[in-house]
Amino acid sequence: MRVVGLDLGGTKIAAGVFDGERLLSRVVLPTPKEGGEGVVGALAGAVARAEAEAGVRGEAIGLGTPGPLDFREGVIRFTPNIPGLVNFPIRHLLERTTGRPVYLENDANAAALAEHHLGAARGEASSLFLTVSTGIGGGVVLGGRVLRGERGQGGELGHLTLLPGGPVCGCGLEGCLEALAAGRALEREAGYAYGRPVDTKALFQLFREGEAKAERILLQGARYVGLGLASLVKAFDPGAVVVGGGLALNAPQAYWEALEEAYRHYLAGWEAPPLRRALLGGDAGLLGAALAAYLEVGGGGG
Ligand code: BGC
Ligand code: NA
Ligand code: ZN
Repeated sequence: MRVVGLDLGGTKIAAGVFDGERLLSRVVLPTPKEGGEGVVGALAGAVARAEAEAGVRGEAIGLGTPGPLDFREGVIRFTPNIPGLVNFPIRHLLERTTGRPVYLENDANAAALAEHHLGAARGEASSLFLTVSTGIGGGVVLGGRVLRGERGQGGELGHLTLLPGGPVCGCGLEGCLEALAAGRALEREAGYAYGRPVDTKALFQLFREGEAKAERILLQGARYVGLGLASLVKAFDPGAVVVGGGLALNAPQAYWEALEEAYRHYLAGWEAPPLRRALLGGDAGLLGAALAAYLEVGGGGG
């Protein structure tokens, strides 16, 4: 049996055909800037290209998308980093366009699942995953299954409030971890500090050049991530904590040191679970979405 995995991100869409063990193809397209309905067409186009590249058709589609989601209705409630997807019936629209059953999962939940079964948390009974990229997403895997909560908002770890009265988040609230430490947040701070647009790549470059303001911004973000993770350990005490996402994985070593230092600081006197880098890199979300659909359709049973 084959399924198609889809990973909807703030800047790109990844798609690939999955046979239960590996990806037979992998394509990446830009996410339409205007968001909304155009996203459905782009997702369907990515499915078609991934199938053409693999030379096989998938029986079902697994879609990882930013949330929070209404899993029962197949609706995206809102996406802090993609415009026009409010109460958006993505499952129905994508099923109608592709003629295949669509299984939804939160993007970070999907990545958490992949890292748990195939990546950095393999062999653990439970794990906690955080992805630091344009936004911040999370996933809590307990007994091999990812926690969705009763309303589809379990594992939305990027929206933990860490600073009352802090910067406004894409979710509308103030002081979320995402508003303090995600790619957009660091770019916002760097923009203020340098009086011009500075993207994360430029921020890393300024850091390497020894720029004090860039260092302060980057390491401050890392410390918020470490602090958030230390707090989460007290809620879940997982077998391992895994950090991934484009920003974290591409950040300089000093970022990881500051992150780990804050993590240990806020767990002083406690048992700190091992803190690991994600192993599957940019493919985690795609693999996880495919894996979730594969398990739903019953591929595990043969
Ligand atoms: C969304 C999460 C998502 C994360 C990473 C957050 O803004 O609320 O659902 O997992 O971004 O894309
Ligand atoms: Na999540
Ligand atoms: Zn938020």
